[in-house]
Amino acid sequence: MGRYQEVYRRSLEDPEGFWAEAAGALRWRKRWDRVLDKASPRRPRWFEGGALNTCENALDVHVDAGRSDQLALVWDSAVTQATARYTYRELRAEVALFAGALRRLGVAQGDRVLIYMPMIPQAVIAMLACARLGAVHSVVFGGFAAHELAARIDHATPKVLVCGSCGLEPGRTVAYKPMVDKAIELAQHKPERVVVFQRPQLEAGLTADRDLTWDDAVKGAQPAECVTVQAGDPLYILYTSGTTGRPKGIVRDNGGHAVALKWSMQNIYDANPGEPFFTASDIGWVVGHSYIVYAPLLHGCTTILYEGKPVGTPDAGAFWRVVAQHGVRTLFTAPTAFRAIRREDAKGAFIEQWNPTRTLRALFLAGERCDPETLHWAQERLRIPVVDHWLQTETGWPIVANPIGLEKFAVKPGSATRPVPGYDVHVLDEEGRDQPAGQNGAIAIRLPLPPGNLVTLYQDEATFERAYLARYPGWYLSGDGGFYDEEGYLSIMGRMDDVINVAGHRLSTGAMEEILASHPDVAECAVVGVDDALKGEVPVGFVVLKAGVAREEAELCAELVRLVRERIGPVACFKTAASVGKLPKTRSGKILRGTVRKIADGVAWTLPPTIEDPAALDEMARTLGKLGYPARKK
Ligand code: COA
Ligand code: AMP
Repeated sequence: MGRYQEVYRRSLEDPEGFWAEAAGALRWRKRWDRVLDKASPRRPRWFEGGALNTCENALDVHVDAGRSDQLALVWDSAVTQATARYTYRELRAEVALFAGALRRLGVAQGDRVLIYMPMIPQAVIAMLACARLGAVHSVVFGGFAAHELAARIDHATPKVLVCGSCGLEPGRTVAYKPMVDKAIELAQHKPERVVVFQRPQLEAGLTADRDLTWDDAVKGAQPAECVTVQAGDPLYILYTSGTTGRPKGIVRDNGGHAVALKWSMQNIYDANPGEPFFTASDIGWVVGHSYIVYAPLLHGCTTILYEGKPVGTPDAGAFWRVVAQHGVRTLFTAPTAFRAIRREDAKGAFIEQWNPTRTLRALFLAGERCDPETLHWAQERLRIPVVDHWLQTETGWPIVANPIGLEKFAVKPGSATRPVPGYDVHVLDEEGRDQPAGQNGAIAIRLPLPPGNLVTLYQDEATFERAYLARYPGWYLSGDGGFYDEEGYLSIMGRMDDVINVAGHRLSTGAMEEILASHPDVAECAVVGVDDALKGEVPVGFVVLKAGVAREEAELCAELVRLVRERIGPVACFKTAASVGKLPKTRSGKILRGTVRKIADGVAWTLPPTIEDPAALDEMARTLGKLGYPARKK
């Protein structure tokens, strides 16, 4: 008999007792006055009056507790064939030194520091150095281009920007620094200093009086001690895609975050201190923040920082090599990575070669819906628990999972299993009533949200209210749809808004539409996410040209593709566009994106009764056919 039911009930009936107990696993500089300020369930303040330092809990605590010589971080770079190992003592020394360097550059508690770096140890060191100083980091994923970086610089107004000179994508070196220069030129706000970690593959030019190298920054710096911060003080801002072009700055606190992540390691991931934990994601995403950096270190694990891809660096055995060479016990990645591996190694020859299950005990998948075929393949080839679990940038840690540390439930492919303790998850209909089992609806979480969840949107309370709290008073609206089955298993079926998930990367079709609309020949446009066998979803754009404009189709589409790549970056994966005479709309003018998507995905669709002009949908079906998405019959 597992413990789930009892623990889950207690987490909802006595959240204060439950989370106070979990908080006992951390080092506090001052104990909290109140576990939860119930006066404001819409904005719960966890551990009010408490003070701690997240970096201290991630590093110093372990050094003091006898883990100084245990590995804290192992960097494995498949693209440069390099590795580096840091014990807890060494990592603390590097972090304290860089924190001292940042302080010397004027960074103080509450200041923002923007980090734009590839998957190298210095990225993790920079994040933890900010935490040490009580400064607020905002990490921007390397696949975003200068415009996106500029938008984040203007919004977060960082005092210092830390970057790598380059990133290494298979077959190409991505020069980060010119993008940083361009972004600073585009932005209204100018960071005072730019610290550049020079990689030997491509050294960056420096701007006098503003830029300095990492080495120069740390030369002669005094190691910094941990600053005391309030539990509710911000640890980081992480921008994520919403329905519009403007990214949402998710604000995470220090206290609740550390408590929830630490709790999740044992209870959800079944991970023990001292074990190697490998999350193959990127520090630019929430999965990277939580499960490459903070959670494994808070728990005293060895985190594996992998620079490379699941395939092509050099082959589909890359993950298994890493697992075998570093004795990994837990692997966490996105289903896309497994689809890519399976496509190249369907029989699992590399799995046999590296024999990862000598140490590997569980595989966790998140970031996008996990298709049952991928899950089955992983289960059959690995013969260890494969856990599909659901989280969002907003929540920071899993909402629904098979919490194998508490109890191992039978897996139902297509379902992320059960709500995690702390989360009261419901599926609601339009009126906010619970949907019966089997019926799709909006997935909402009853307030207050548990510790670790977003505190607000940075400098945008109005959007925080509107996007998450207004739709169903008393609830947090997740933006995802899904259903419960009779046994209480929840299936997450996909976003109900204009957010799409491309290779586990969260993107906004609204942002892409804003870019297409800025093209001088475009009168109106729509971007729709359509099914993709590898990446789960990919965006496809449709434009209507301005009256009187005639353009050669291939040339126009190439311009549109280039524009999105330039403005958002390669991560948008926007490769397909077409022009149409008219967009299919309802009589009230709403573009029928859902119907277009159904046609493209080859699923049954009906002619919406409110359609303005059925011929526009027929034209769309023909266009999709030409693009390689043959429409099924209505
Ligand atoms: N810096 C610069 N460019 C980057 C980048 C980075 N950090 N990460 C990705 N890109 C580029 C890629 O090179 C690619 O460029 P291209 O259009 O010139 O080929 C583009 O962005 C799209 O990247 P991606 O969708 O990741 O495709 P890919 O071909 O590089 O890799 C997979 C395909 C399936 C192997 C890869 O998507 C993957 O491993 N995904 C795992 C998902 C993941 O980690 N999700 C995080 C949440 S858990
Ligand atoms: P992000 O904020 O980038 O982590 O993306 C969060 C979104 O990814 C969610 O809102 C879901 O749409 C999707 N997602 C994450 N995990 C899962 C999962 N296990 N099943 C289905 N969708 C998921």
